[in-house]
Parts: sequence; structure tokens; C-alpha cells
Amino acid sequence: YRNLRIALLGAGSVGSQVARLLLEHGDELAARVGAGLELVGVAVRDVDAKRDVDIPRELLTTDALTLIQSADVVIELMGGIEPAKQYILAAINSGADVVTGNKALLATHGPELFAAAEQVGAQLYYEAAAGGAIPIIRPLRDSLAGDRVKRVMGIVNGTTNFILDRMDVQGDSFENALAVATELGYAEADPTADVEGYDAAQKAAILASLAFHTAVPVEAVHREGMTTVTAAQVEAAEKAGFVVKLLAICERLTDPETGVEGVVARVHPALISRRHPLAAVHDAKNAVFVQAEAAGDLMFYGAGAGGTETASAVLGDLVSAARRHVAGGPGVGESVHANLPVFGIGSVTTRY
Ligand code: NDP
Ligand code: HSE
Repeated sequence: YRNLRIALLGAGSVGSQVARLLLEHGDELAARVGAGLELVGVAVRDVDAKRDVDIPRELLTTDALTLIQSADVVIELMGGIEPAKQYILAAINSGADVVTGNKALLATHGPELFAAAEQVGAQLYYEAAAGGAIPIIRPLRDSLAGDRVKRVMGIVNGTTNFILDRMDVQGDSFENALAVATELGYAEADPTADVEGYDAAQKAAILASLAFHTAVPVEAVHREGMTTVTAAQVEAAEKAGFVVKLLAICERLTDPETGVEGVVARVHPALISRRHPLAAVHDAKNAVFVQAEAAGDLMFYGAGAGGTETASAVLGDLVSAARRHVAGGPGVGESVHANLPVFGIGSVTTRY
């Protein structure tokens, strides 16, 4: 094996779990890639800060730019616009591929970053930028690229779903539920982004751009948060057979006056019938309903936030990026490198 050099920017809720999983399962992932995956450094603000995960002290640095120069793949999990943007551009310009979960950056500066990557033949991967652990970026960009998507409708913010669910199921207060969501690592560094719908609007812009193959700027997404939703409204909704959810809805619509077809994207609290599948999305889970002309209805469901869960999406992107670097590696057609025994049907108990 030759070793691919991986630089990690950020070791917070998500980054620390990416570091842990990479250090624990690096050999298994290396077999899938056909090259070693060496974590060469982790850039943070404070190398002495207490962390959920023990990252070897010699890997920690505050000098992100020097770390970036030595990497084949850079994983950005710092969040925010700057310095994340300048670091991603530095990575691209030094020939590295980039993995990021930074929807705030992609929704505001995505076109510039993708153009910079295209210019030098680098790739920017961002499966973690919408829906946490749920694979939704690749399905919209690749699997459904031959279809015509009509609507994408989903719960795309884990923090607000967690809060609304606790208000609904446990009668919890907004303040307490938000404090728990923050403690569990679901909320953004500034949770205003979650509760005022900015985070969901950024994800709506990303999903709409992919679904409709057109650049949908975040400014074009109508946004209402959920801070105005009261406990009394949640209770009244329940009595009427509904549940309140913060939804992101992106649709292909025809203007009735001009006949021109276009895209509308919006984020706002909505009443969902308790019989609707989205009503059964609890805790910090997310779900995205996709309606396409040929495929019909599809639903993507899973953990929308959380360090370990989101790290899964990040590491999937890392494997894709690493495979691209390995000429003659296993490729993406099949992945059969673990040599696990395959049991006969009598050997296992099936209990689901
Ligand atoms: P955290 O706030 O928990 O962690 C941020 C990390 O980045 C910290 O380790 C911090 O260093 C480091 N950092 C911040 N600014 C700088 C800087 N200027 N220079 C060097 N290091 C810096 O964020 P999360 O892990 O929650 O989120 C990371 C990204 O992933 C964000 O873009 C977020 O939107 C996205 N995301 C998060 C999810 C989640 O569930 N939390 C899910 C999906 C995506 P230090 O530790 O020293 O302070
Ligand atoms: N703060 C975000 C959420 C993280 O709660 O959904 C996942 O993008």
C-alpha cells in the first residue's frame, strides 16, 4: 500500500468521531480503498481543549494551512464561512480532494468552490451537508439524474425535530429541549441557525440545486423558524390529529400566469397528519420524501445529526475521495475485501 495523507480540520462533535473511527477502523477502510489512510494531523483552535475523544497530542495543531499543504484529502469539519472557505480553497489549490459537512458554506459560496475544484480537477464531497448520516446527496445527484424530480419534502434539521418531538411527546419546554439537543452535539455552534430555520434553508438550497439541476441560492429559500411555535399550539395540533414539524419543501412548479416552469423552495413549521410517514420521525431523526416522475415516491430516513452518525457520511466521502486517488484500486463497482466468513442459513437466528 501507499499511504494517503488525510488532514482533518476540526475535532468537535463530528470531527472527533471522524478521528476516532479513522484511527479505529483505518485498516478496514484501507482494504476497501487499496491504500493506507493515514491521519497526518488535526487542526483545532485550542490543542489543550478537553475533547470527547482522545486524539494523540502529536496530531493536534493550530496551523491548519501548513497541515493542508501535506495532505491528499482534507476533511473540513470546523463549520462557518471563514476561515473554512480559505482553507478549502487552499486544499483545492494544493491538489487535494476535499470532504466537508459545511452546509452554511456550500449554500452561500458553493458555486465558487465547485468552480475552483473543477479548474484544477479536484473533487468536493459533501454527503454530510444535508441529512446527517442519510445518503441523500448522491441519490439526488447520481441515482436520480435520469429522472425528473417533482418535489423534495423533508425534515432536514435534527435539533428542531428533537425539540418539537419532546414538546409533543413529553410536554417538554423549548428551552430545556434545546439545552439537551446542544448537549448531545446536534445543534450548530450558534443554535439560532437551527431554531430560526437557517440551517434547514441552507440544506433546502443544496437539495433543490441537486434535485432540479439548477443553482438555487439560499436567499431564494423562504424561511420561517420554529421559535414562534408554542406548547399550546403543539397540544392543540395533537388533539386535532396532527403533529407540528419544521419542513423543507422544494418543488418544480409552473407559473399559472406565464406557463414558465421553475423551482420554489421554502422552510416553515407545518401541520402533518399523524398518519403521514413524516409524523413518525422522532428525536433528531430526519427524513426526506422525494417524488420523481418515473421512480414515484422514495423516502430516505435516518439520523439527521450527531457526531458518530454524521461521521459515517464523512468517512463514506473519504473512501470515495481515496478511491479516486488510487489508480488500479478496487474502484466502486464492488467492495469485497474484508474476507468475512459467510454463514449458512442454519448458523444464525433471524430475529428482527
Ligand atoms: P463543533 O463546533 O462541535 O466543532 C468545531 C471544531 O472546529 C472544533 O474542534 C474547533 O476547535 C474547530 N475550529 C473552529 N474554528 C476553527 C479555526 N478557526 N481554526 C481551527 N479549528 C477551528 O462543530 P460540529 O462538529 O458540530 O460541526 C462541524 C461541521 O459539521 C459544521 O459545518 C456543521 O454544520 C456540520 N455538521 C454537523 C452535524 C452535527 O450533528 N453536529 C451534522 C452534520 C453536519 P476547538 O475544538 O479547539 O474549539
Ligand atoms: N445542527 C444540525 C441539525 C446538524 O440539527 O440538523 C446536522 O446538519
